[in-house]
Amino acid sequence: MTRNFASILGTGRYLPAQILTNADLEKRVDTNDEWIVSHTGIRERRISAADEHSSDMGAAAAKAALAKAGIAPTELDAIITATLTPDYPWPATSCIIQQKIGAPQALAFDLSAACSGFVYALSVAEGLIATGTCKHVLVVGAEKLTSIMDWTDRNTCVLFGDGAGAAVLGPANGRRVLRSFHLGADGSMVPKLLQPAGGTVMPASAESVEQRQHFLKMDGKAVFKFAVRIMGEAARQAVEKAGLTNADIQLFIPHQANIRIIEAAAKFMGLSMDQVFVNVDRYGNTSAASVAIAMDEAEEQGRLKAGDKTVLVAFGAGLTWASCVIEW
Ligand code: ACO
Repeated sequence: MTRNFASILGTGRYLPAQILTNADLEKRVDTNDEWIVSHTGIRERRISAADEHSSDMGAAAAKAALAKAGIAPTELDAIITATLTPDYPWPATSCIIQQKIGAPQALAFDLSAACSGFVYALSVAEGLIATGTCKHVLVVGAEKLTSIMDWTDRNTCVLFGDGAGAAVLGPANGRRVLRSFHLGADGSMVPKLLQPAGGTVMPASAESVEQRQHFLKMDGKAVFKFAVRIMGEAARQAVEKAGLTNADIQLFIPHQANIRIIEAAAKFMGLSMDQVFVNVDRYGNTSAASVAIAMDEAEEQGRLKAGDKTVLVAFGAGLTWASCVIEW
């Protein structure tokens, strides 16, 4: 039996205005447009201003989602923000967003599941609604990834961008119903993708900064291999749990990390690329914001109509993965 607990009432997004193109990156590191496009599909990404933080972008996306949902900030019972680039290590960026959108009555906490965080947070929000703890939950994915980029490392700095997406959830109302989830993690892969310093293992020190340990480190090949396998597999699991087959899916909304990973997942699912939403060319990998931004753009472009079934799928550091079927 598929679930019928929660609906998405509205979605929103925010992308910073400044664009960083592949040509701009050619001036910073030994790379070129042809390499970046052929290996990743990325042509440009957005960069937030120096005084524009994850909470600012998250609050802007949240306001857009609330407006679409027709819900006032004062009607929110909870705020969950998925991010790996919080304003501060603690307290939660959700508490800052609570103040910026004017929702003092809402409980607020962050969720750490890297790029899978937004889909993980959707499932937590659904649980809060299903148990009657909350009626309206705001889920935000917000990232200022450029703040943890090593701009001397061509292996990583070409891949990521900044942005935020949000969704307001409420009790199921027959539209945009969350029908199934599949979540997982493989902690043996922790060393393949992480920010080594800034936690208890390596607190901030002059050495940690000098050794550039506060930047994102990644074994790209290992993550790529894992992602190609898990994206299709996670999507399959969510589709099955919703009592569907891939033939029932109108639109596939994958985490926007790399066009080659997206194409491999689509192939695994037997979907053609015109059934797949892609914006990695314009934004790069925005981690926890990626799927949320894509879902909002997909609806705006008329690619999600009432009754359509869509699958969200993401993978990220941990390594983690998460998928969700939504009946639009
Ligand atoms: N420009 C030019 N050359 C480059 C660049 C660049 N920007 N980056 C790497 N290269 C070089 C490498 O140095 C290597 O050169 P070498 O053979 O002389 O050593 C060569 O290109 C090939 O490198 P590969 O690692 O084989 O390239 P690959 O095809 O695997 O693509 C990539 C690399 C794009 C990083 C890919 O592995 C990938 O997308 N991995 C997954 C990354 C990802 O999705 N991460 C998700 C993070 S999500 C989160 O939770 C934060």
